[in-house]
Amino acid sequence: MSLLRRLTETPTSIVALDDPAIGPAQALADRLGLVLSAPLPEENQLWLSEHGLAFKAPAFNKPFSIDFSSGKYDHRRKFGGGRGQPIARAVGLKQGQTPSIIDATAGFARDAFVLASLGCQVTLIEQNLVLSLLIEDALQRAAAEPAIREIADRMRLYQGNAITLLAESDLKADVIYLDPMYPGREKSALVKKEMQLLHQLVGVDIDSAELLSAARSKAGKRVVVKRPKGAEFVGDQKPAASVQSKNTRFDIYPTV
Ligand SMILES: C[S@@+](CC[C@H](N)C(=O)[O-])C[C@H]1O[C@@H](n2cnc3c(N)ncnc32)[C@H](O)[C@@H]1O
Repeated sequence: MSLLRRLTETPTSIVALDDPAIGPAQALADRLGLVLSAPLPEENQLWLSEHGLAFKAPAFNKPFSIDFSSGKYDHRRKFGGGRGQPIARAVGLKQGQTPSIIDATAGFARDAFVLASLGCQVTLIEQNLVLSLLIEDALQRAAAEPAIREIADRMRLYQGNAITLLAESDLKADVIYLDPMYPGREKSALVKKEMQLLHQLVGVDIDSAELLSAARSKAGKRVVVKRPKGAEFVGDQKPAASVQSKNTRFDIYPTV
């Protein structure tokens, strides 16, 4: 899908919230073919300040941004369980083994950040333009923060559809990691604000079965698919093994 098509679904303009942001906001507007504007409560907008980039949607009071040095990212990095945590076991992180990863459904880059903080080189692919801009901005800010600079250095971002990118680029990794959106998530009574945002931006991924097949033919060693506990297998493809955690299952597929 073209950049323009995506843009009509997402931000309509860019807001510079302070003086230092005026130049970068203009550059971003030029890059995306958008205009600068004042804050407009009824519009989807990208807000830029000296503190970084945020997405502001009418349905949400607060603008949304990604910050690898705060909140959940930081907590999970420090207390997430290291190489013993389920995601690490699923991708095959062991003593002496640190696989390279393509996270082909980057989203808020939470899982990618965990994997990079455990030492993996992680290539992130995100099809949604707003999310990819927020990740790009978070990576730039992380590069200036001594505590997480080294982690950010292990992360490389590509914007686009992973099915196309896997087929047409020379991107390579030991493991391809997938965490597609699925219809069931919408029904949860506890859908958090950011999940609502994800649904607004991305909807439901209808091509997960195709993505799984593309990943299995491209990965060097294995494909890992994150699913909620009890959910059906993607595309009814039965995994070779699964790693369970409290609310999540990581299905492991061999390459084909
Ligand atoms: C549930 S979110 C992933 C959350 C992520 N694991 C995290 O830790 O933040 C799924 C994301 O995958 C992206 N996605 C789905 N299919 C894709 C594809 N074929 N190519 C690129 N991105 C895709 C969606 O746009 C969405 O942002």
